[in-house]
Amino acid sequence: MAEETPYEETGRLLFAREVDFVLGAAELTQLPDADRPEICFAGRSNAGKSSLINALTGRKDLARTSNTPGRTQQLNYFSTAHPDTGPLYIVDLPGYGFAKAPVAEVERWQGVLRAYLRGRATLRRAYVLVDSRHGIKAVDEEILKMLDVAAVSYQIVLTKADKPKSVALETVIQATRKAIAKRPAAFPEMIVTSSETGEGVAALRAAIARVIIES
Ligand code: GTP
Ligand code: MG
Repeated sequence: MAEETPYEETGRLLFAREVDFVLGAAELTQLPDADRPEICFAGRSNAGKSSLINALTGRKDLARTSNTPGRTQQLNYFSTAHPDTGPLYIVDLPGYGFAKAPVAEVERWQGVLRAYLRGRATLRRAYVLVDSRHGIKAVDEEILKMLDVAAVSYQIVLTKADKPKSVALETVIQATRKAIAKRPAAFPEMIVTSSETGEGVAALRAAIARVIIES
């Protein structure tokens, strides 16, 4: 068991309260006013972004999840608050790297995603979700590079940790640690999670509470 951090209780309460769906934005002009801090979940299609948001809130159906990659097609905004953090937005992003959608549609989405990640002044941290069976791929590297250039602080979250055998998981953890070691905007440690078993979910809640309070 990981030691309880001072942020664990705040993190728990932050997500135990009502987390509300605010809106889904298909374009940047539809984003809510940048009047409070926000964090976002980015990652390849099917990495488990929506499932992890559901796990954080303990609700199965808040963020839509699907077996069909490319299901989340808009920036979905959720709001929550705690006396220690104040109000904040949580953003579920559409996945990148999904090749089966029409090319024009993919390109438009990549443009929206990049403009969001580069330009959203209130974005405190991006959580970049990486499937623990696959590790960081070339399309993830592109996003990491862009976040480094834009100086958006980010942390890698390994997902679906219930899937690989423990030896394979350890190999991916080591490789990921190595891949991010020299990246300027990367948080040095990753969080290993499973939306299925709940592993790492309390640690992620605490990390979010901490980043909002400290930054
Ligand atoms: P897009 O919205 O298409 O970008 O996908 P996403 O990143 O939001 O992935 P989503 O949460 O929809 O999950 C994709 C698939 O992975 C679904 O079939 C989930 O049930 C499955 N999945 C997600 N998290 C886990 C996990 O922790 N463990 C296991 N075993 N399966 C998971
Ligand atoms: Mg999704």
